[in-house]
Amino acid sequence: MSDKLKLINLVGARPQFIKASALSRVIRTQYNHAIDEVVVHSGQHYDEAMSDVFFTELEIPKPHYNLGVGSMSHAKQIAQIMVALEDVLLKEKPDLMVVYGDTNTTLAGALVASKMNIPIAHIEAGLRSWNNEMPEELNRRMTDHVSRWLFCPTKLSCDNLKNEGLQDLATEVGDVMMDVALYHGQSVNERHEVLSHLPVDSKYVLFTLHRNINTDNPDRLRSIIEGVVRLAEEFPVVFPMHPRTESLLPSDLYELLDSSECMIISPQPYKSTITLLSQASLIITDSGGLQKEGYFFKKPVVIPRNETEWEEAVELGCAFLVNDDADQLYTKGIELIQNPPSEFPEVYGDGKAAERIVERILKTLSK
Ligand code: UD1
Repeated sequence: MSDKLKLINLVGARPQFIKASALSRVIRTQYNHAIDEVVVHSGQHYDEAMSDVFFTELEIPKPHYNLGVGSMSHAKQIAQIMVALEDVLLKEKPDLMVVYGDTNTTLAGALVASKMNIPIAHIEAGLRSWNNEMPEELNRRMTDHVSRWLFCPTKLSCDNLKNEGLQDLATEVGDVMMDVALYHGQSVNERHEVLSHLPVDSKYVLFTLHRNINTDNPDRLRSIIEGVVRLAEEFPVVFPMHPRTESLLPSDLYELLDSSECMIISPQPYKSTITLLSQASLIITDSGGLQKEGYFFKKPVVIPRNETEWEEAVELGCAFLVNDDADQLYTKGIELIQNPPSEFPEVYGDGKAAERIVERILKTLSK
C-alpha cells in the first residue's frame, strides 16, 4: 500500500482550472513523493475554449475522471455531479478532496465528500457578497460550513469566517490566482491579434459579462451594454463573450455592439486573457477572477454589480461598483482611463498560496 496521501482535485468551471493549476504545479514539482493527485472534472464547462485549452496551457494533468455533466438547471447539475462523484470517491477512497471557489461543482463536491467523511479543503474560502440571490453566495457559504480546511485569500475573507464561528479552521494563505498570474505573467508581452488594426499604443478597454444576475435580467443587460457602447465611441472595447451571454443577448444589442468600436471575440485562453488585461487601460467586468487579475496588473476596474465579494480593491479606490447604471459606467470608465489610480497595495499575497496550502494539509494529515 502506498504511504502517499491521495488527494482529489475537483474542478469543473473555467476559473477552477486556473486555480487548480497552482496546486497541481506545487504537488508535481515539490510534493510528488508525498501526494498522489487525482484530477476529477465535473464537466460543468465542456467547450474546448472553456475547458480543454486551460488544461494544455496551464499544464494541469489530464482529468483521471470526467463526470460529463454539462449544462442544465442548478438542481439537476448539482444532483448529477453528486451521484457521479460518489462513485469516484467510493472507488478512489481519497484522504482528502480539494474544492475551489463557489460554483455548482464546488457545492456538489462539498456535499458528497462531507457525507462520506472525506475531509475537504476549500480554496478561496470566506468570500461573501452578502447577496443571497447569487447562486455563488449560497454555494460558497454552504461549502465553508462543511469543510475541514478553509484557505482564505485575504484578511477580510478570514475575518468573515471568524464572524461565522469558523476561525479554528480558517487560514489566510494568499490567493492562488496570484500564484498563477505571477508564474505565467512574465511570458505575456505581445499585443493581442484582435488589436492589430489599432496604433500600437492606443488605449483600449477589456469587457466581460457572464453573471446570472446580469445576463438573466433583460433590463440590467441592456443598460450595461448601452453604457459600454457609449464608452466604445471614445475607446475601443474588446469583449470576449461567455457562451451564457451569447445565448441570452438579444439580437438588437448584439448588433449595437457589433456596429460600435466593440470587438466581440470568443472566450480566450488564460495567457491571451492576461495579455489583453495587462495592456488595457480599463477593465469592466462582473467576474470575480478578472476583478482580481485587474488588480494584480494594476488596472482600474469598473464592476457592473451592486456589491462584490472582493471588497478590498473597492475600499482602496482601485475598483468601482456602478451597478447597471449606464451613465455611471460611462463616466467612471472615462475618468479612470484619464486618471488611473496609482497605488495598488499588496492584498492578495506573494504568489506562494499553493505552497502554504499543501504544507498545511501535509502537516495535519501526514501518515
Ligand atoms: C459558472 C459558475 C460561475 C463562474 C462561471 C465561470 C455556477 C452557479 N456558476 O457560471 O460562478 O463564475 O462558471 O465561467 O456554478 N456553456 C457553454 N459551454 C460551456 C459551459 C457553459 O456553452 O463549456 C453555456 C451553456 O449555455 C450554459 C451556460 O453557458 O447553460 C452557463 O454555464 P454554467 O456552467 O451553468 O454557468 P456559468 O454561467 O458558466
